[in-house]
Amino acid sequence: MEVSGTRTANIQSLEEQFQAKIDAEIRIEPKDWMPDAYRKTLIRQIGQHAHSEIVGMLPEGNWITRAPSLKRKQILLAKVQDEGGHGLYLYAAAETLGVSREQMIDELHAGKAKYSSIFNYPTINWADIGAIGWLVDGAAIMNQVPLCRCSYGPYARAMTRVCKEESFHQRQGFELLLVMSKGSDEQKAMAQDAINRWYWPAVMMFGPSDGESLHSAQSAQWKIKRFSNDELRQRFVDMIAEQIKFLGLVVPDPDLKWNEERGHYDFGPIDWDEFWNVVKGNGPCNRERLRTRVKAHEEGAWVREAATAYAEKKEKRRQESAAKTLAA
Ligand code: 3HC
Repeated sequence: MEVSGTRTANIQSLEEQFQAKIDAEIRIEPKDWMPDAYRKTLIRQIGQHAHSEIVGMLPEGNWITRAPSLKRKQILLAKVQDEGGHGLYLYAAAETLGVSREQMIDELHAGKAKYSSIFNYPTINWADIGAIGWLVDGAAIMNQVPLCRCSYGPYARAMTRVCKEESFHQRQGFELLLVMSKGSDEQKAMAQDAINRWYWPAVMMFGPSDGESLHSAQSAQWKIKRFSNDELRQRFVDMIAEQIKFLGLVVPDPDLKWNEERGHYDFGPIDWDEFWNVVKGNGPCNRERLRTRVKAHEEGAWVREAATAYAEKKEKRRQESAAKTLAA
């Protein structure tokens, strides 16, 4: 009994030391002691984040071959490539916590791992590419900038790089909509229709309201989350409500109204049934997204095998030449 009592006391003091580091804004690095629950929630969130980046390539990738000009094709190609890179940084950050990339990807393909609900909506015309850039990447930036100050070092550092590229993503989306809003009546109507379809799913990206959030309180104590879901959502609504004025279009929310007393925009009710329905796999494109991901992964197996074979051969050659140098 004595031994387990001492063990419990030791763990408790380790947890106290850990929390003291968090409170003192000392970054937690991969080799540092951390509570299993801290590791587990980071693997969960970073893994979902990585999956979101990779699955997020699909709705936009769909329009690379249909871009209306070479310039728009180049911009969209660059953006989609960036998202793939973000996914790789984030898988690498998650791997520092002891989970393998293969395991994370297997869980995604088996429908066991979440990715952001927003990527389960269809991109039905070119204006959607503008709405995704402006609204979805705009929401992503709102949520990702605070993550640059996350207590876990590798995640925070990955976010610093990601946020620089997201700013380009958001600006190119807004500029695309600005051109359309100043174009023909049909183009202006397309831009408004895309905003009507993407606005509320983007508002939902910030997760359930604070009272319903499973992880927020603990994530805040561990300084993984610096602001609550609702705080970031409010900042997003305030930002969009102002920016849309430059487009001469409207937010699809009749309750959107500036509240002088609060210093924020009041906005209408969120359809949480829709949100949870999409999160549970019943969104317009959930099945198609996973099918496409699994197909791409299977068709890409030869590339992974070739890269692994090349790396193993290179390493063998390096070891042989090192052995020769030693023997000389
Ligand atoms: N889509 C799918 N699931 C969601 C969700 C969403 N938009 N919001 C919340 N959930 C899930 C959570 O994963 C959690 O489920 P789990 O316990 O099975 O993991 C459950 O709903 C409860 O939600 P919580 O608020 O308690 O969960 P979190 O504390 O993890 O907060 C989050 C949710 C704010 C999304 C947080 O995970 C986060 O900040 N993640 C990092 C940012 C991120 O993943 N962004 C996604 C978009 S990436 C992107 O847009 C790329 C850009 O380049 C386009």
